[in-house]
Amino acid sequence: MEPIKALNYRYSTKEFDQTRKLSEEDLQTIKKLLQLSPSSVNVQPWHFIVATTEEGKKRVASAAQGDFSFNEPKILDASAVVVFSTKTDISDDFLLHITDQEDQDGRFAEDQHKKGTHAARQMFVDLHKYDFKDLQHWSEKQVYLNLGSFLLGVAELGIDAVPMEGLDMKALDTEFNLREKGFTSCVVVSLGYRASTDFNAPLPKSRLNKAEIIEQV
Ligand SMILES: Cc1cc2nc3c(=O)[nH]c(=O)nc-3n(C[C@H](O)[C@H](O)[C@H](O)COP(=O)(O)O)c2cc1C
Repeated sequence: MEPIKALNYRYSTKEFDQTRKLSEEDLQTIKKLLQLSPSSVNVQPWHFIVATTEEGKKRVASAAQGDFSFNEPKILDASAVVVFSTKTDISDDFLLHITDQEDQDGRFAEDQHKKGTHAARQMFVDLHKYDFKDLQHWSEKQVYLNLGSFLLGVAELGIDAVPMEGLDMKALDTEFNLREKGFTSCVVVSLGYRASTDFNAPLPKSRLNKAEIIEQV
């Protein structure tokens, strides 16, 4: 799908058609979208949980209780649900692991390129860890960048989605032992196909005027 068409087609789906499921092929493409997102210095500080079973979706929906119960049906009725989580720390070992992967993927003709890439990446991470003291915030920005490319990607596949921050992230972290694994959740995306009764589907898209938000110089 052409990008503007895809961005107009997509909308935050408030009611999913429970009878329609994503194909196995689409699920594989969805995982590829999550993997292929860019990130600053290719740091990839993320982890994803893809829930496709009733049991898996119920586990995600445990974070949509009380004040967040308005999001529960969007999780339970979806075909698949993706939990986006952010790394809580970035160790030197993790940075070396990224560089090893890049090496394996054939990005370094010479060993000194590998060493230089590692040093540059470490410099950026240390800047955020020690000088700006915003490592977690910086990492989460990378996860949200992934979210943006993901939402466009699924729209191009003709798959409906809703991103959700309205969840109890602490409950989600506990349910999936995310903190013990070195991650914390920040946003969840439900995927599937819009129900014919979704009130939000026929509403026109509303955005601030281009003249207000864009300055061309
Ligand atoms: C990061 C993020 C969090 C959101 N959280 C929720 C949510 O918890 N529940 C919900 O129904 N919609 C949620 N939305 C949907 C927004 O309200 C929606 O994207 C916005 O109103 C623009 O409408 P559109 O997505 O239909 O174009 C969220 C959107 C984003 C990008």
